[in-house]
Amino acid sequence: MKSCGVQQLKAPFYVQFEVTDKCNNRCFFCYNEKACTSGDELSCDEIKRVLDELKVAGVFSVNLNGGEPLMRDDFFEIMEYASYLGFDLHLNTNGTLIDDYAAKRIARCMRSICTSILHSDRDFHDKATGRKGSYDDVIRGIKYLVKNGVQVEVNVCTSKQNYKDIYSIAKLSADIGCYALCSTRYILNHKDNLDLLMDKQSTIELVDALIKAKNDFSGLHSVTLPGPVPFCELPMEYHAKLASLNIPCQFGYGLCRISATGNVTPCTISDDLIGDLRKDSFENIWNSDKWSKYRKLEHLPSNCKLCDDLSFCHGGYVVYDQSILSCNVCVNTKKWCEADVQ
Ligand SMILES: C[S@@+](CC[C@H](N)C(=O)[O-])C[C@H]1O[C@@H](n2cnc3c(N)ncnc32)[C@H](O)[C@@H]1O
Repeated sequence: MKSCGVQQLKAPFYVQFEVTDKCNNRCFFCYNEKACTSGDELSCDEIKRVLDELKVAGVFSVNLNGGEPLMRDDFFEIMEYASYLGFDLHLNTNGTLIDDYAAKRIARCMRSICTSILHSDRDFHDKATGRKGSYDDVIRGIKYLVKNGVQVEVNVCTSKQNYKDIYSIAKLSADIGCYALCSTRYILNHKDNLDLLMDKQSTIELVDALIKAKNDFSGLHSVTLPGPVPFCELPMEYHAKLASLNIPCQFGYGLCRISATGNVTPCTISDDLIGDLRKDSFENIWNSDKWSKYRKLEHLPSNCKLCDDLSFCHGGYVVYDQSILSCNVCVNTKKWCEADVQ
């Protein structure tokens, strides 16, 4: 094995905090499609208590995520409390509920937010979000944020349906003053959507289009792949390009996710339940033995652990592969050997 693990951090560097599962959009591809109806979400007081615990533990960065965080009536109270505690604060929002007033309040608490544009064409975007008007709503929201000095990063859940449009989305984003663009390859949320998965050829075209966008639009300060593509998926001549686009995955050792009901898992996509913040403290959960397989990198496929590229590839985006393998479909990389897949 090339690397035997990572240093145990006192706390995760970065916490994805899903403050609600409710959403006003109905994205058919969403990995988080529960649309919480149980009424069992953490209350405002419970969220503040968890934020206190994260602060004491030494967490640096908190991303308020969902669902759509702005669906909560008490969203601003939560955001302002997190800001008061001094976290490096971020927000994932579909942007549709942001008016000038909301943008001003957000601007006081964070430097940047991440929102979603799924296509440069209005009708396509609205179809993907399952809500007519969502395109106009997000473009308006972005403009309010930009006007108030908030850096806007556009994330594109990129699938076979929209990857050819990525350059046009980059142009649109730059034209309306966005700061950054990222493309997350579609993670399989349902076996009926297999035809949406990016294959080798579409991923090559995506990488080329992202590099071209990076060169052409100087207003975009970064263009990235936050769901990193493993090097072994693409030919050698693409490895340097991937190195410049990939954001290495810190699944389970540098980050964790807190669900809307207080469950702690290694990331937003993982269902591996490590603890429940209604029953246990964050510190106890983070220090529990259940994390050790992630710190020892045991969750990586065997071939990754033997690979010369491990130190910079980090095994790509493991949950992405797992979402495919769980539907009994083969992943076209050298990462997986038979023993891993069984
Ligand atoms: C779950 S949403 C929650 C935040 C907010 N409601 C929004 O739409 O941005 C967070 C991000 O995950 C992305 N996403 C959702 N489902 C995905 C999937 N199956 N694969 C990759 N990205 C996905 C969305 O496009 C969005 O940028």
